Amino acid sequence: MAPRIRIVRTIASLRGAVAQLRRRGGKIALVPTMGALHAGHLALVRRAKRRVHHVVVSIFVNPTQFAPHEDLTTYPRTFDADVAALVALGANLVWAPSAQVMYPADFATRVVPSGPAAVGLEDRFRPHFFAGVATVVTKLLMQCQPDYAMFGEKDYQQLKVVTQMAKDLDLPVKIVGVPTVREADGLALSSRNAYLSPGERATAPALYRVLTACAGKIAAGDLIARVLDEGSADIERAGFTLDYLEARDADTLKSIERKGDAPIRLLVAARIGKTRLIDNIGV
Ligand code: PAJ
Repeated sequence: MAPRIRIVRTIASLRGAVAQLRRRGGKIALVPTMGALHAGHLALVRRAKRRVHHVVVSIFVNPTQFAPHEDLTTYPRTFDADVAALVALGANLVWAPSAQVMYPADFATRVVPSGPAAVGLEDRFRPHFFAGVATVVTKLLMQCQPDYAMFGEKDYQQLKVVTQMAKDLDLPVKIVGVPTVREADGLALSSRNAYLSPGERATAPALYRVLTACAGKIAAGDLIARVLDEGSADIERAGFTLDYLEARDADTLKSIERKGDAPIRLLVAARIGKTRLIDNIGV
């Protein structure tokens, strides 16, 4: 028999479907996504499948985390292919609400995170972003009531923001971080890689190359400020406009000047043509 997956689009049918999974026993994991699924998203689903009995995947392009000038209308939408990939992996349920279901006309409450959401990284360049993410992720967690929720390290600051938020709001869920999936040449998989022209695609792995080189130098004891200056110049020389290249405390995301005992995370955001890419690695 072909594996079956259920697609639900209303809160009432979601509640019914989750209750049915609960009655079957075992744990539930949620994988929140905006669709256009690639091998990075699917790694989250695989990891969830290994850990629990039932996997719910949400597919919702969340308008509140896009600024007016950003790519909400052109964001890739590949729902049928997404569902086919999820069936192949044995996911149980797809939660695919409309914007009206998620945000009815009289919607009036937002979750506005601070701490790791206010450290001058993504928040500096996308000031609207983390309130949009925190609000929708809170709603997704309340709607699906999972035991676990999976997030990619690809969006490292987002992972930290969601972890802090779940703790602060006493949400009964364990947030699980999953390592970044990359192309063979090092480029982190992203739905936005689809925007890259062939020339930009050839340039894009420079981000990961520079991150890796910087991490090696910092681990060897080179001065962090100098390493980042050189790395920034390399990224610009490759053809990017740099938003930031920073070394931060891997846990708090606070700035660090010199290598100490705390683990360090290098984070980068840069634009090439019309596309903005982010990436990060541990030192
Ligand atoms: P989206 O960009 O679709 O990503 C969904 C999840 O997949 C996120 O947790 C993200 O970190 C993870 N992911 C993306 N690329 C990855 C890669 N190359 N390797 C590993 N994981 C990867 O992030 C969002 O959607 C939204 O902000 C969301 C959390 C769904 C809220 O709207």
